[in-house]
Amino acid sequence: PEKWFGVVSLFPDMFAPFTQQGVIGRAVKSGTLSVDTFNPRDFTHDRHRTVDDRPYGGGPGMLMMVKPLTDAIQAAKKVGGKKSKVIYLSPQGKPLDQAGVQRLANIDRTILICGRYEGIDERVIESHVDEEVSIGDYVLSGGELPAMVLMDAVARLVPGVLGHKASAVEDSFTDGLLDCPHYTRPEILDGQKVPEVLLSGDHEKIRQWRLMQSLGRTWHRRPDLLNHLALTEEQQRLLEL
Ligand code: ADE
Repeated sequence: PEKWFGVVSLFPDMFAPFTQQGVIGRAVKSGTLSVDTFNPRDFTHDRHRTVDDRPYGGGPGMLMMVKPLTDAIQAAKKVGGKKSKVIYLSPQGKPLDQAGVQRLANIDRTILICGRYEGIDERVIESHVDEEVSIGDYVLSGGELPAMVLMDAVARLVPGVLGHKASAVEDSFTDGLLDCPHYTRPEILDGQKVPEVLLSGDHEKIRQWRLMQSLGRTWHRRPDLLNHLALTEEQQRLLEL
């Protein structure tokens, strides 16, 4: 495949709908994208197939047991090869943004480690993980949803996954701005009209209107995005109006 993900997770079934539906489902079926799961529970040897363990120092909650976890990571590395990048999803990681997604899209083989319970032993991170990534400043009950968020964002940049139209390049954030508003039929909906310019057929006017909307919405809703952004000359001119 163009892009391979190895996912280490105690709940591999959570990935079934993700890999079976929509654009991701189509990419998997066509062989452009491949997702293999590795369950630490399959690497246990005791009667109860134990996958959790108690934290040194005490306190509430459990950690993932080390040996089943590292054996699952090792199995993933064997499939992914030596050059696969290992990412641990956690709120302590570097926040994921579209630039980070872009960078990960250029890597062929990525292993995602999904934590459960209170997380994993720090030494496993030190010896097996290349990057720790967060999908935002909130806490989820496991790394599975974050792994799917990351894979979805990355996969749609892989050539052939989207209807290979301009879809990916025209999107929100590709130029660092929020997306413009969109409209479809009917022309009047509960008394609300579609902006006239979109019916004009003047493609240059429409392009300028959309850019203006993107700039305005970004300025109103996410002024933080404008700070570290290199605006084009046209974008600067429109903002100064
Ligand atoms: N695991 C739990 N919460 C998370 C988050 N916000 N980002 C990445 N992994 C997580």
